[in-house]
Amino acid sequence: MNSTNQFIKPLTTKKNENGNIEIGGCDLVLLAEKFGTPLYVLDEYTIRSICKDYKKAFSAYDKVNMMYASKALCTMAVSKILDNEGFGFDVVSAGEIYTVYKAGINMAKVLFNGNNKSYDELALAIKLGVGRISVDNFFELSLLNEIAKSYDKTVDILLRITPGIECHTHEYIQTGHLDSKFGFDLTQIDEAVELILNNYSNLKLHGLHAHIGSQIFETKIYGDEIEILVREIKRLDDKFGLKLDEINIGGGLGVKYTEEDLPPSTYEIANIVIDSLNKCIKKYNIEPPALFIEPGRSIISTSGVTLYTLGSSKQVPKGRTYFAVDGGMADNPRPSMYQAKYYAEIANKPDCELSQEITVAGRFCESGDILIKDIQLPQVEEGDILCVYNTGAYNYSMASNYNRVQKPAMILVNNSQSDIIINRETLDDLVHHDVIPDRLSK
Ligand code: LLP
Repeated sequence: MNSTNQFIKPLTTKKNENGNIEIGGCDLVLLAEKFGTPLYVLDEYTIRSICKDYKKAFSAYDKVNMMYASKALCTMAVSKILDNEGFGFDVVSAGEIYTVYKAGINMAKVLFNGNNKSYDELALAIKLGVGRISVDNFFELSLLNEIAKSYDKTVDILLRITPGIECHTHEYIQTGHLDSKFGFDLTQIDEAVELILNNYSNLKLHGLHAHIGSQIFETKIYGDEIEILVREIKRLDDKFGLKLDEINIGGGLGVKYTEEDLPPSTYEIANIVIDSLNKCIKKYNIEPPALFIEPGRSIISTSGVTLYTLGSSKQVPKGRTYFAVDGGMADNPRPSMYQAKYYAEIANKPDCELSQEITVAGRFCESGDILIKDIQLPQVEEGDILCVYNTGAYNYSMASNYNRVQKPAMILVNNSQSDIIINRETLDDLVHHDVIPDRLSK
């Protein structure tokens, strides 16, 4: 069965009677007119649909907990939708903790992750009652215990481990040790456990956590990850008499940015995960643990598009035709950071013949600011609205104010309704934190 992450466009995308593309019943050209461009547009139906795919796919395992990796896109409205779909949250900073808290999320459903959480961030997590903290390293174990003691609390933790599986999106390798900044090496787990059991009385260990990569197309890698997590749980029971009953396998399922991308469905992933888990439970003779999975990209990416207005163009003699848009690497850094590829259409010309190859350039002062290289489009002109698909994940969340350009607004569409969920930044927002010291004003 297919799942939403296997589509390039939001599920509600279609051509409407105005001859334009619409999403969530909203004409993209009218949205661009009303809210301006660049504009992030999120389709609520598509978000809810992938949540349902995940829940259905994993329903064969009793003790499953879906967590949304907020780093992909963290806003209060998005948190509300995910909460409403029954998801918990994987957060990685005080900012993400605060966002879900302000959205009214039950903080017991939140897991705090990260390789260098600060004293203040850990203290905030304890104060707000974050459900689990995934401890990444020895320094953090000691720091967290000290903070928990000062609040006279016992903190529920997982240990983040590096299982020795490295994912390169289309292939993966298994090694004894992984040269990674995240988590405890397999050979360091026992020492961490001994410290928790003997020295850190304000920490209660519940299980193990791992994350093997992102934009993963491989299914077997999850089976190998589960084998390592369950093997370690069994080993810790044998050695320390420790009954750990939670495993968190991280996120990573890929999405379809272009036709070449063929991500597996949530159903394929769930089959291999549940099958491997059940086999390992038998093989190692352990009680079935609670399973946590924390996808980010595959939950939110497909629901999002970005609208831009085409502006100036340049024909390089005997070379490429460049068309510039009013956004670029500051609202979507992925093409310049990772050579990521995107698919796009002209929202006001969905039916026109694809008659030319152009390169979509961003408006930022850097020659690497190219959004899409060599894409087939109809004859385009200044004022056309470009719709770039699959921008829901890691676009707004990694956006910057490079060149002191305001971040775009974000609109949630559903059933012909469009609501602002993030206001467009103003020029005043940009100078809001600036300070001129008195001595410079004299
Ligand atoms: N859990 C942990 C511990 C993670 O580190 C991540 C992502 C996730 C879950 C969610 O992974 P996802 O399901 O989204 O693949 N900025 C990059 C992606 C970085 C992902 C970092 N960790 C990009 O734009 O491709």
